[in-house]
Amino acid sequence: MAHQMVVVLDFGGQYNQLIARRVRECQVYCEVIPYTTPLETVKAMNPIGIIFTGGPNSVYLEDAPKVDPAIFTWGVPVLGICYGCQLMAQELGGQVVPAQDDSAREYGKTATYYDPPCKLFDGLPDSGISWMSHSDYMAKVPEGFRLVAHSDACPNVAIADEARGFYGVQFHPEVNHTEHGSQMLHNFLYQVCHARGDWTMGDYCKTAIASIREKIGDGKVLLALSGGVDSSVAAALLAEAVGDQLTCVFVDHGLMRKNEGDEVEAAFAKWDIHLIRMNEEERFLRELAGVTDPEKKRKIIGEQFIRVFEQVGKQIGSVDYLVQGTIYPDVIESGKGDAAVIKSHHNVGGLPDYVDFKEIIEPLRMLFKDEVRQLGRELGLPDYLVNRQPFPGPGLGIRIIGDITKEKADILREADAIFREEIAKAGLDSQIDQYFTVLTDTHSVGVMGDGRTYDYTLALRGVTTSDFMTADWARIPYEVLDTVSVRIVNEVKHINRIVYDVTSKPPATIEWE
Ligand code: XMP
Repeated sequence: MAHQMVVVLDFGGQYNQLIARRVRECQVYCEVIPYTTPLETVKAMNPIGIIFTGGPNSVYLEDAPKVDPAIFTWGVPVLGICYGCQLMAQELGGQVVPAQDDSAREYGKTATYYDPPCKLFDGLPDSGISWMSHSDYMAKVPEGFRLVAHSDACPNVAIADEARGFYGVQFHPEVNHTEHGSQMLHNFLYQVCHARGDWTMGDYCKTAIASIREKIGDGKVLLALSGGVDSSVAAALLAEAVGDQLTCVFVDHGLMRKNEGDEVEAAFAKWDIHLIRMNEEERFLRELAGVTDPEKKRKIIGEQFIRVFEQVGKQIGSVDYLVQGTIYPDVIESGKGDAAVIKSHHNVGGLPDYVDFKEIIEPLRMLFKDEVRQLGRELGLPDYLVNRQPFPGPGLGIRIIGDITKEKADILREADAIFREEIAKAGLDSQIDQYFTVLTDTHSVGVMGDGRTYDYTLALRGVTTSDFMTADWARIPYEVLDTVSVRIVNEVKHINRIVYDVTSKPPATIEWE
């Protein structure tokens, strides 16, 4: 790739993806790779700078994650954040020890005073609030380094060796709670690493189209189109790259929202795209019968999707490539390297071992959601497609807790349609990033008319988020919740209780399964 790149060496901290997003917001491309990646591989990526992330360990412990020390003599600037800062300090001859007393341990928002001159803090006021989360302390600063920031409790909050381009901060510049954090990253990228700022969606779009053309040649391609933002953008990209060599397949697995299939067909009918709709409800419900484990559901749905695509591929004949709209958070959350598997998003971890295509192409694999949306706009996709709320590949299958039946899917579809209708009516659809209903497996007693009921509890979920990696529950006005509740209980049979989910991510996830 022609653009410059920064490598984010991942030591397992919770904000690591955020660092990558912040770097890209500065129009510098970056990739997150495990700290265990051999130095030769890192060198081959030809980065203009390296960022060591935070992590849960203490550097002085025996089995603490380390880097190849040769990374410090290679001549590339390094920014160490939290654990990354401590690691650099220790490896270069400093000393890191457990904080002796509570005053040197810092958690949360902390007033930080910048001690100029330091490129990292260039253009900033004298002080700002930073987000700290460390219980270790840099007792000795390595030779060649200077202290460049302090707090009331801690004399060494940031260190710099400007001659070598090494910087370390104990706090997290990537989180919003850190004032001027984005500016600090910007300073590191532009003043220390001399970034050109060549990561723009316009450029990415051109490069991606050229490389897709080169790879596919005159071959045929199938694309898994769900009508969601990611697959729609992937479809537009592929259509631009290979035109009528592309066939889009929309699989209705019977776990779609109400009218979803018709709406997707209608949206793409306006485009010059060859679209096949496969109605496969029976197949999916048969394979899913009796399965309650969320991960098993995902794997089954993932596998059946592939089988349907293989079938279509055979009908068309000589199809080599299958395109999926996988995006970077899917890749990360499905687990790679040491990271914990949260959910095996069906379009990544849910793939069967054997897939009857020459290759699966994922042109959005390295993009964050907001970048996918930008790319969609770049490709001329209309706002209503680019701004759609996400809908997971396994669909209602992961919103029906417990085993899946057609009856439950029908109940959920009706309830979900009412919820969406009322949110739109209240003008909240552009303010809430994702909202849906969940059919729980809890039954409770109710009274309707003069009779006792014993029916399902339905949960409403609404979240605000910018990247779907973290999220807050949406403050939907009580009146709207009330209207939704009254309508659903009256209009949808077998639901007699509605609850609203007031948990953020973390500790919860957005979907219930
Ligand atoms: P969670 O529940 O992990 O969801 O907080 C984050 C975002 O990902 C979507 N999601 C999925 N998308 N296949 C997908 O294509 C999946 O298996 C899957 N699971 C969750 C979810 O809707 C939210 O937008």
